[in-house]
Amino acid sequence: MARLLLVSNRLPVTVKAEKDAVSVGRSAGGLATGLSRPHERSGGLWIGWPGDVSRLTDAQRTQVEKQLSDLRCVPLYLSASEVSRFYEGYSNRVLWPLCHYMLDRVPRQDRDWDAYRKANERFADLAAKHYQPGDTIWVHDYQLMLVPGMLRKRLPQARIGYFHHIPFPSSEIFSTLPRRAELLEGLLGADLIGFHTVSYVRHFSGTLLRHLGLDTNIDRVLFQGREVRVGAFPMGIDSAAFESLAQEPAVLDEVKTLHGRAQGERLLVGIDRLDYTKGIPRRLLAVQRVLERDPSLRGRLRFIQVAVPSRTQVQAYAEYRETVDELVGRINGLYGTVHSTPVHYLYRSLNEKQLVSLYRGADVMLVTPVRDGMNLVAKEFCAARPDEDGVLVLSEFAGAAAEMRDALLVNPYDVEDMADAIEQALKMPQPERQARMRGLRAGVKARDVHWWVASFLDRLQGLPSQAEKPP
Ligand code: UDP
Ligand code: G6P
Repeated sequence: MARLLLVSNRLPVTVKAEKDAVSVGRSAGGLATGLSRPHERSGGLWIGWPGDVSRLTDAQRTQVEKQLSDLRCVPLYLSASEVSRFYEGYSNRVLWPLCHYMLDRVPRQDRDWDAYRKANERFADLAAKHYQPGDTIWVHDYQLMLVPGMLRKRLPQARIGYFHHIPFPSSEIFSTLPRRAELLEGLLGADLIGFHTVSYVRHFSGTLLRHLGLDTNIDRVLFQGREVRVGAFPMGIDSAAFESLAQEPAVLDEVKTLHGRAQGERLLVGIDRLDYTKGIPRRLLAVQRVLERDPSLRGRLRFIQVAVPSRTQVQAYAEYRETVDELVGRINGLYGTVHSTPVHYLYRSLNEKQLVSLYRGADVMLVTPVRDGMNLVAKEFCAARPDEDGVLVLSEFAGAAAEMRDALLVNPYDVEDMADAIEQALKMPQPERQARMRGLRAGVKARDVHWWVASFLDRLQGLPSQAEKPP
């Protein structure tokens, strides 16, 4: 039977070991949260890493495997060395900052390429092992850029898609990678390569021309006798699920409590993985500027920033955490009173209900990454506002900005500009808030995650299969 095989580094669930108890919990991050419901609907398999299982007893491991298998997840366990060299090393110390235009964060010498290549081989082997003729294989994200090419060698006839969830940078940036040609050739093993925006597609095509001499003709490029398609597919969210969650009595009660505790304070909200691409320090400075400029807002404004722990073993993330901690302390020291604290900072993850309560209760949602492939939080916020209220302040450098033109778009490097936008949002008359939110919600609903999956897979499955093509 034709099935969908999803392949990504992280599974939608991660093993959580607390004291003696072990369970699997929701993974954070847009790829895992976004694809979870399409996976539930598809009836296929999802191959990936369930997180660190090294401390589990044999019995606990058996229990986890049973839970994963019920969820149709096939675990690929990374060794400690793979975690440090493939995941934290090449993927998150080299490719992640590079694709987000942060060349100064890339180590001077990369020593982890071999580990990256070998781990990609393991993912390709496992996917090939589970493949049945007629299946569609869909590989996800920058940790696995070599997998499409490796799979093409193992399964010349298979239908293979790849989606890049983070920005594809300008060729000026990508060109600095010593392994640029291998990575590009790896991607070209796919039949269809998807990006969130048209500008990432352009960057990719420019890079192919520059390094492999390949000319992209509108949406196709010829590589080793095969036609590879390239396209923009902006990822969406399960908007119906967020909308219905936002109307549940438990959520509405929580919103009431939130507003009650706020005692008339206006609520600004930020929700991100604690990642240096998310622009949290400048966002905090913008909130500080608002309080500096308008003393009447002191004691009447509360900024709740949720920072979900992420990649904590990578030094840049630990340093970033210190910067954020320090700034939060400074602003609270300057503008707190005995009755109020301007910044409420939570370093933890939330469950869906808590998350949606914050979306639903916010006066202003601040999504100001310095660079972001898409940013699903911006879309989730709008889906969770059936009351058609709340203002979205959104960075121009998030992929979502290409679609969400009714947001207040800001330059996240310009603290004054962000402070202006926050003031504008706080003062915005209700009819304008409603008109903007209506526009945003219409887009989020029309291009939801099921639309996204269908448009990618329809395109992929509509292509002539390798078997049908003349030699
Ligand atoms: N999220 C989560 N737990 C939290 C906070 C956020 O699972 O405590 C989710 C959030 O709902 C969203 C995802 O993490 O779906 C973040 O995706 P986004 O595209 O905004 O950024 P990414 O983390 O992928 O860079
Ligand atoms: C981003 C990446 C995903 C990744 C997620 C969480 O969304 O595009 O590939 O899974 O961040 O990061 P982590 O390193 O915890 O998987």
